Amino acid sequence: MDDNHRILFYDTKPYDRRFFDEANGEFSFDITYYDGRLDKETALFAKGYPVICGFVNDVIDAETIKILKAGGVGLIALRCAGYNNVDLKGAYGNLHVVRVPAYSPYAVAEHCVGLMLTLNRKIHKAYYRVRDGNFSINGLLGFDMRGKTAGVIGTGKIGRCVVSILKGFGMDVIAFDPEPDQAFADQAGIRYAAIDELYRLSDIITLHCPLTPQTHHMIDKSVISEMKDGVMLINTGRGKLIKTEALIEGLKSGKIGSAGLDVYEEESEYFFEDFSMSMISDDVLARLLTFPNVIITSHQGFFTKEALANIANTTLENIREHFNGGYLRNEICYRCDKKPCRKKDLKRCF
Ligand code: NAI
Repeated sequence: MDDNHRILFYDTKPYDRRFFDEANGEFSFDITYYDGRLDKETALFAKGYPVICGFVNDVIDAETIKILKAGGVGLIALRCAGYNNVDLKGAYGNLHVVRVPAYSPYAVAEHCVGLMLTLNRKIHKAYYRVRDGNFSINGLLGFDMRGKTAGVIGTGKIGRCVVSILKGFGMDVIAFDPEPDQAFADQAGIRYAAIDELYRLSDIITLHCPLTPQTHHMIDKSVISEMKDGVMLINTGRGKLIKTEALIEGLKSGKIGSAGLDVYEEESEYFFEDFSMSMISDDVLARLLTFPNVIITSHQGFFTKEALANIANTTLENIREHFNGGYLRNEICYRCDKKPCRKKDLKRCF
């Protein structure tokens, strides 16, 4: 393998290495794994690598991009779907950026519904009670999901899987998406509604839209005040979709009955790391962790064997396309974003 096929992976854990090593059998790239996150300091390590591979909490801002480019990097290969952590404008014309648009929407959707069921039937509380010899079911009262209304915000790949599972429970599902797909709605037996109607009618609200300037803090104090009393709020999208202080106020007043969060606004400080022997200095996170009706998981929605295998294969395929010099099918740029531009002619974005 010549030096031109070297890839530096940032922010890797043992499970990343396992799945990428397995997938690399077919590609034989020269991979170096680095534990630390990518930011303007660690970008220097990429000098001499034509490709780097990053993840959700790497800080890929304009400065980081400048340093990567100066070191000879030509491609940032994200091993995730979301790309809100990349300054696409800074990258345009300098570095190509690719991602894994879909790897297992089922993984995230199933985790999302797992959070709903756990919160509703209080399984997280029941588990500890019974292990402690406490067989009382006082306080564990839930509700039938059947017949209740779920509001799904964003009916892309993940949102659609959630719709299908919730329809299986016999729920009434309403959805909001700025690009509604009526054929999907008809086939799934759901209806699209205006966003304020969704907030008003839903017993459970679940977020499956990307983080963009338009969706940043879309769930804030005023939106929460429109929701049903006791609503369950689930976020497996991105932490900054919710203004966390407003969520905490909603929980304290009882307006929000429960919350299941796989993502958190300031997760990059803590998620994926072991702080069990340290102190949590983020008072907002610490406050959230005190509520019995809040479950936080550490951005693990994607974490299934199938998803990791798909992520590894698609990422290495994306990188192979770059090394071959041709069209990058999973390229993203600030011009086309997810709408086709030059891609429609099977050309690179610049
Ligand atoms: P997708 O691109 O297939 O679907 C996103 C949908 O959101 C699209 O239909 C789009 O029209 C819609 N949308 C855009 N702006 C909206 C708005 N203002 N309000 C409502 N809907 C809006 O994306 P996919 O694969 O379904 O993923 C959704 C999000 O889930 C990703 O952007 C990512 O942030 C998050 N995610 C979380 C993971 C986890 O492990 N927790 C793993 C993978 C993705």
